[in-house]
Amino acid sequence: MNNDLVEELERRNRLAEEGGGDERRKKQHSEGKLGARERIDLLLDDGTFEETDRFVTHRATDFGLAEKRFPGDGIVTGYGRIDRRTVFVYAQDFTVFGGSLSEANAAKIVKLMDMAMKVGAPIIGLGDSGGARIQEGVVSLAGYADIFLRNTMASGVIPQISAILGPCAGGAVYSPAITDFILMVDKTSYMFVTGPDVIRTVTHEEVTKEALGGAQTHNEISGVAHFEAHDDAECLTMVRELLSFLPSNNLDDPPRRPCTDPVDRADRELDKLVPLDSTKPYDIKQAITHIVDEGYFFEVHEHFAKNIVVGFARMNGRPVGIIANQPAILAGVLDINASVKGARFVRFCDAFNIPLITLEDVPGFMPGTEQEYGGIIRHGAKLLYAFAEATVPKMLVITRKAYGGAYCVMSSKHLRTDVNLAWPTAEIAVMGPEGAVSIVYGRELAQTLKLAEKSEGKLTEERRQEILHEAKAARVHEFREQFANPYVAAERGYVDAVILPHETRRRLCSALDMLEGKREKNPPKKHGNIPL
Ligand code: HXC
Repeated sequence: MNNDLVEELERRNRLAEEGGGDERRKKQHSEGKLGARERIDLLLDDGTFEETDRFVTHRATDFGLAEKRFPGDGIVTGYGRIDRRTVFVYAQDFTVFGGSLSEANAAKIVKLMDMAMKVGAPIIGLGDSGGARIQEGVVSLAGYADIFLRNTMASGVIPQISAILGPCAGGAVYSPAITDFILMVDKTSYMFVTGPDVIRTVTHEEVTKEALGGAQTHNEISGVAHFEAHDDAECLTMVRELLSFLPSNNLDDPPRRPCTDPVDRADRELDKLVPLDSTKPYDIKQAITHIVDEGYFFEVHEHFAKNIVVGFARMNGRPVGIIANQPAILAGVLDINASVKGARFVRFCDAFNIPLITLEDVPGFMPGTEQEYGGIIRHGAKLLYAFAEATVPKMLVITRKAYGGAYCVMSSKHLRTDVNLAWPTAEIAVMGPEGAVSIVYGRELAQTLKLAEKSEGKLTEERRQEILHEAKAARVHEFREQFANPYVAAERGYVDAVILPHETRRRLCSALDMLEGKREKNPPKKHGNIPL
């Protein structure tokens, strides 16, 4: 090869790798952020990155842009491997025009997404951008819309993951929002539709970037983000971990691993987990870790709507999606946020052939005006819809309460759940015994009070409660005996088997084997109309 040609290529490669230059790179590091290429190196298996379009530059000429061109134009794109499987990745380079999205760099992302769809491999976006490139105007907006369209078309076909590692503002937030999972880094990343300055002008509200759209805000309050990391490196490790549970596309099965944890491991700790007093809380995560392979549970949305727990684990080496009511938080009640969190997770698993295991201990839907005005009917219906339409293998374990509408919603037999198990501590009824007795025996209780008033004269509130408590106790006991157990449901076949808690792992592993060839389809339609 002619030396001049080699040198020219080397010169151009050097320029591309320099990004926005030393000074800007140092600033990036001083803020605790890695550079775009460093991030890709950490994310992918060593030496597997193949860059695409590294010499692409913008074609804009306004605002002095003609003289300011950087090879790659502020975004590094390409493909490589994670755990030896192909993935596509793009990383916005904040050192070039603040990682802003131009016509040219949007085209790079679009090209990558089209290729990811063609070969059926996940796409990972590493965001660090000031948003639309201001100097380019509408062509930059057009670039965003081109990406949004592809995000939508790819939804449910290939996993899409967004790691937000810097700013992400304005309409730019909507590409991550359509993707399946969003990860954010504490203190260095933020997402908002309108920033603090605009908010101050429009609503006179004072808020910092961090409080408005930082990692904590979106993990705990809005639920926009699914994971929170301490730094870039941890965030990228989480992306790798997440992908280890997912298939490359909707036609593949999730990757199975060899399993050293015996499938028939009988964990006696489970027998002691549920307190005898059914009003006492316990931690459902303990149940999960005692059941799954090696006790390893990769929780999703850990900090949001903690009254429901969702995440990935493995059973006999097979990835499964776990969704569980959490009696330790708000007694595991289903409210708006828990319903939406659960529904989204169920739909993700269903789209990507990941079997669902549901652990149920739910006293019902959250009562109150706040929830009703907020649309608990509409949002609760999302969870119901998601479970009902899911065709992946579905398994349910009722550990304790399965009351009212929540019984129907949480993967009941009637929603085509394949294997429904219950522990002997299960209580399946229209409502809890206390509430049920107050309604069914309302007249009888009022009569008892009247009689007491006749014989004792005017009753103090304390005495009234005492009499009511005594009168109810026998009825509550009777009700509990008759309904608050798993056997009425088991007699009808709504529960396939009542098992001892320590048998759960073996029963679920065996159910997964049995369901390996499950074939179930929904009727052909353009799409359903989930109550959004
Ligand atoms: C062009 C941009 C840019 C942008 C930043 N830069 N944002 N260039 N278009 N959108 C450039 C800066 O000029 C600067 O260039 C370099 O990136 C670093 O920016 P700084 O401001 O010095 O960095 P910092 O102090 O860290 O502040 C980061 C920032 C701020 C908070 C992101 O840059 C900022 O507010 N940018 C604008 C954000 C914004 O309003 N974007 C539009 C959102 S609306 P030099 O040469 O000095 O290094 C939108 C619509 C999308 O995106 C709609 C889709 C439907």
